[in-house]
Amino acid sequence: MAFERNAQHFIGYVMERPLMGHIRGVPLDQRICDTWSDISSFQAHPEDLVVAAYPKAGITWVQEIVDMIYMDGNADRCRRAPTYDRHPFLEAVAPKPVPSGLQLAESMKPPRILKTHLPVNLLPPSFWKQDCKVIYVARNPKDSMVSYFHFQKMNKGLPDSGDWELYFSEFLSGNVPWGSWFDHVLGWWNAKDHHEVLYLFYEDIIENPKHEIRKIMNFLRKNISEEILEKIYQHTTFQAMKDNPMANYSTIPSFVMDQSISPFMRKGIVGDWKNHFTVSQNEIFEEEYKRQMEGSDLIFLTEL
Ligand code: A3P
Repeated sequence: MAFERNAQHFIGYVMERPLMGHIRGVPLDQRICDTWSDISSFQAHPEDLVVAAYPKAGITWVQEIVDMIYMDGNADRCRRAPTYDRHPFLEAVAPKPVPSGLQLAESMKPPRILKTHLPVNLLPPSFWKQDCKVIYVARNPKDSMVSYFHFQKMNKGLPDSGDWELYFSEFLSGNVPWGSWFDHVLGWWNAKDHHEVLYLFYEDIIENPKHEIRKIMNFLRKNISEEILEKIYQHTTFQAMKDNPMANYSTIPSFVMDQSISPFMRKGIVGDWKNHFTVSQNEIFEEEYKRQMEGSDLIFLTEL
């Protein structure tokens, strides 16, 4: 779509950081709030697949794996367009004339793969009515926080993260786009007991990618050979995706995503939080984690 095809429109364009609003208490880009009734009334098709995650949980990775499964392991077909054009980002809004996620979704025929960062209670109800499958990916909160901190710095489509000290408390109190990490992962965790939701963990995919790819294939009821599994694995390693312009967001112009500040494919590891958290931040974090996760059987690994 998008920026590349509309390059002329953006000559001399200065990207302002967005204003934030709220939908049912969840901080969202004001433009998402302004178009909320359209987003919320989106009409899903039973064959649509939703790929959902809190920001920075590895959704792009799962999207690439799913696309490879849909394309029977044909990497060339997955290079047909950048991730954001292949799989509409449902609630995304962009400066005109770049189409919104809704417009892009509505221009495609089902079965579509739709990306969202919405918490479970904000997912357009039509997805539940149509019994759509959802793949949710969760990542431990410490690495999510670090990854989001760097991403909000480089992505002018989001508010600036400020300094690390400030960001630490903003993230913990859920005052970041798409709201509280705790509410997000817990809400979707509970939803899996009532809907067709495959709940994945970033750390599991890092630890045993082929096992998790098989899990996705089974969920999608796709029977794929060992040879194709190997192709999917090779195409979706961190290095392969970092080198793939159709997966690494390098097609988004630098006035939106400035990859010289922080690359989209930044480190791709478990445990980078140790390079950011002070001892006292870790203590504060652990207290808050205990408080918010109390009573839940949802468990995260913060190191492997
Ligand atoms: P880091 O910033 O920690 O490196 P999302 O796609 O949800 O925005 O998540 C982006 C995060 O997932 C980034 O984390 C990115 O490096 C990581 N990631 C993307 N593809 C990956 C892959 N193939 N293997 C491991 N990590 C990957």
